[in-house]
Amino acid sequence: MKALVVGSGGREHALAWGISRSPNLSKLFIAPGNGGTDRLGENVSIPADDVTALLEFAGKESVDLTVIGPEAPLVEGVVDRFREAGRACFGPAQAAARLEGSKVFAKMFMKRHGIPTADFEVFDNADAACAYVREKGAPLVIKADGLAAGKGVFVAESVQDAESAIDEIMVRKAFGESGRTLLIEERLVGREVSVHAICSVERAVMFPPAQDHKRVYDGDKGPNTGGMGAYAPVPFVTATQHEEIFESIIMKTLKGMRRDGTPYTGVLYAGLMMTDSGPKVLEFNVRFGDPETQVLLPMLDGDLLDLLTEAAEGRIPKDVRFYGDRCAATVVMASDGYPGLYEKGAVISGLADTLDDNRVVFHAGTVLDGDKVITSGGRVLAVTAWGPSLSEAIGHAYEGVDRIRFDGAFYRKDIGRKVL
Ligand SMILES: Nc1ncnc2c1ncn2[C@@H]1O[C@H](COP(=O)(O)OP(=O)(O)O)[C@@H](O)[C@H]1O
Ligand SMILES: [Mg+2]
Repeated sequence: MKALVVGSGGREHALAWGISRSPNLSKLFIAPGNGGTDRLGENVSIPADDVTALLEFAGKESVDLTVIGPEAPLVEGVVDRFREAGRACFGPAQAAARLEGSKVFAKMFMKRHGIPTADFEVFDNADAACAYVREKGAPLVIKADGLAAGKGVFVAESVQDAESAIDEIMVRKAFGESGRTLLIEERLVGREVSVHAICSVERAVMFPPAQDHKRVYDGDKGPNTGGMGAYAPVPFVTATQHEEIFESIIMKTLKGMRRDGTPYTGVLYAGLMMTDSGPKVLEFNVRFGDPETQVLLPMLDGDLLDLLTEAAEGRIPKDVRFYGDRCAATVVMASDGYPGLYEKGAVISGLADTLDDNRVVFHAGTVLDGDKVITSGGRVLAVTAWGPSLSEAIGHAYEGVDRIRFDGAFYRKDIGRKVL
C-alpha cells in the first residue's frame, strides 16, 4: 500500500513512524514533512492546506490512504474532496469537523445529546456578553468560537479580565472571523486529560488516556504553548472512569453525530476535565493531539496503517490492542524564546546517539541541510521513550534529551512529575 501523511510536525513524524512499521506499506510520502520524516519516506513539498495539490498528487501516485494531521484542512473539507474523487482519506468530513471548527457548534451538540460539559451561554454582541459577565461574576471562561491556533480561550479570574477577553475577541477581533461569536462557560475545576479514539461511524477504539503539558515552564508557569511534553497512561484515571468516558462521551458523540446526519469517522480527541462530578468535555478536536500522538502510537500493539485504513473504509477491527504493561513519555525540546520569537538554523547533534529499542526522536521544527539537521521551528523535536513504568519511561526520555544538543535548546524538566 502507498500512504500519504499530511503535515509537518511531531505528530506527523509519529504517524509516519507508526505507518512505516507496517509490513503492508510499499511507499510512504509526507507532505510537506520535516527533517525526521525524510528518513522514513519521501517528503513532498506541498503545504498541508493545499487540498487541490494534495488530491492531484494522491491521484498521480495512486496513493491508497491519506492521513491528515492538522485541523485546518479537515475543517476546510479535505476529506470530502478526496471521497468525491474516490480516494480513501482518514479523517472526518467537513460537516463533522465542525466539532473542532466551531466551539459553539460543539457545545450545542453536547447539550442536545446530553454529553457532560460545562454550562455555557453564546453571544454575538460584546455589550450583551459584558452585561452577562457582570451579572454572573468571575471566574468564567471566555472562548472565541472558531479556530484560533490555541490562543482563543481566556480563563478569567475577575470580571475585568473577562471583559477584556471579550474586547480582545469581539471588538479588537484578535482572531478575525473566529471571534464573531463567543462562548462564556462556567469554570470547571479538576485535572485535565486527553482521550483519543479512532472512530468509524458506529465503532470506536479508545487509546489509553494521556496528559499534555501546555505551559512553557516548569510548574505550569508561563504562557500556553502547543504542548511541551506528555505521558500515557494517566494513573489517576480509573478503569471505571475509562469505561465511563468511552460510553458517555465517545460512543454518545458518535451516536449523536449519526442522528444529526453527520456521521463521524477519524480521530475524536476529547479534552476532558476530571471534576468531582465526573469527566466533562472541555473541547473536541477532530485530529490527533501533538504531543499526545507521540506517546499514544508507541502504546499500540498492532498495525497502524491497517487500523487507519479499516477505519477510513468504515470498519474497525475488533481486536485492537494496546501494550498493557507499557508506559510512554515525551519531552519536547524547543528553541529559546518559544512560544514568542526564536532563532532558527542551529545545528542539532546527538540524534543518532539517542535512538534505541525503547526510544525515538520525533522531529517537529527541523529541516535537512545536506547531511546536517537544523532547527526551523519553535518546537524542535520530541524525545519519546517507553518502559514498564511511568518513571522508567520518563527517565529514559530525559536520558535521551541529555544526548541532544543545539544552540538555544530548552525543555521542561518536570514532565509527568506530578503523578510520579
Ligand atoms: N470550562 C472550563 N473550565 C476551566 N478551564 C477551561 C475551561 N475551558 C477551557 N479551559 C482551559 O483552557 C484550555 C484551552 O481550552 P480549550 O477549550 O481546550 O481550547 P483550545 O485548545 O482550542 O485553546 C483548556 O486546556 C483548559 O485548561
Ligand atoms: Mg485544548
